[in-house]
Amino acid sequence: MKALILAGGTGSRLRPITYSMAKQLVPVANKPVIEYGIEAIAHAGVTDFGIIVGDTGPAVEKAVGDGSRWGIKITYIPQSAPLGLAHAVATAKPFLGDDDFVMYLGDNLIKSSVATLVKEFETHRPAATILLTPVPNPSDFGVAELENDRVVRLQEKPKDPKSNLALVGVYLFDKQIHDVIAVLKPSARGEYEITDAIQALVDNHLNVRSHIVEGWWKDTGTVDAMLEANRLILEDLEPSNDGAQDEHSRIEGRVRVGRGSIIENSVIRGPAVIGEGCLIKDSYIGPFTAIADHSRLVSTEIENSIVMNDCEIQDAPSRLASCLIGRGVTIRHQKGMPRTMQLVLGDSSSAALP
Ligand code: G1P
Repeated sequence: MKALILAGGTGSRLRPITYSMAKQLVPVANKPVIEYGIEAIAHAGVTDFGIIVGDTGPAVEKAVGDGSRWGIKITYIPQSAPLGLAHAVATAKPFLGDDDFVMYLGDNLIKSSVATLVKEFETHRPAATILLTPVPNPSDFGVAELENDRVVRLQEKPKDPKSNLALVGVYLFDKQIHDVIAVLKPSARGEYEITDAIQALVDNHLNVRSHIVEGWWKDTGTVDAMLEANRLILEDLEPSNDGAQDEHSRIEGRVRVGRGSIIENSVIRGPAVIGEGCLIKDSYIGPFTAIADHSRLVSTEIENSIVMNDCEIQDAPSRLASCLIGRGVTIRHQKGMPRTMQLVLGDSSSAALP
């Protein structure tokens, strides 16, 4: 069994963050989203990984590396253009050969174990295993219809969904998927859809198994979903403190503080994670907040937020909440007259002012 992780795509719903960063590298609880998937698959005993990359390939490769830290080997596979998930599989064919593989969308987070799926696949040897979960907005996903547990129809982002079972971004395939992809037509949105390829397996009377996901699943494609993923991961945080705090500070609940971080006259209420080399001074860090390495927060209150590395936030005039803040961002309070707000925001930024 090999692994194919998809880390291309443009991440348009996460702009402006994705103008300068791959969506799969956005940190959730201070770790790039893509690493959760890699770890789950490595944990299932898979060691030969291919990662499909697009324009952001060099950054993905720099952040993720050769896989040695997980005891796996990673091959980076450039995709000429983001032409869909089935196109990514076709691009990876020389890497995959005739092997079975687990395909994982690099911006997805899933709590269930991949090891169980791999074992099940190897026992039953279907042509494909798909993962499904009920969602309130099926039109935003691939949707499956089941008849007594049998997959009978799949549709990509249907206007009029026939069920509420969305396709989760984890799939297992054997080599037969390549045959149906070879004759696949592009969809109305101009992409080669893996959903259509799986429908072709069903049409060819091949065995497509489905598995309803237990536990949560998140496609982290939007800011809200990213913050929710951050909350879900922080829920399970193992507390630890490798930083230093003075006697005027309080750390409550599950909090992880990284090496070299200094907490002065501040309250940190978990679950929350503070990276390495941070300064938290005269501040309140509320639940479900992740502050990445070398960021400095002074006289600031913040909760339910992701702050990436090397940020400087000082004297924020009201509590910051539900923020996604990129690398090296400065936010400060303008003192004196006139009382103005100066915003320097990149394209497609959003700011909610009090
Ligand atoms: C893709 C798939 C879709 C699936 C979703 C899961 O959609 O095409 O079937 O439900 O991932 O995240 P996309 O994220 O490309 O819109």
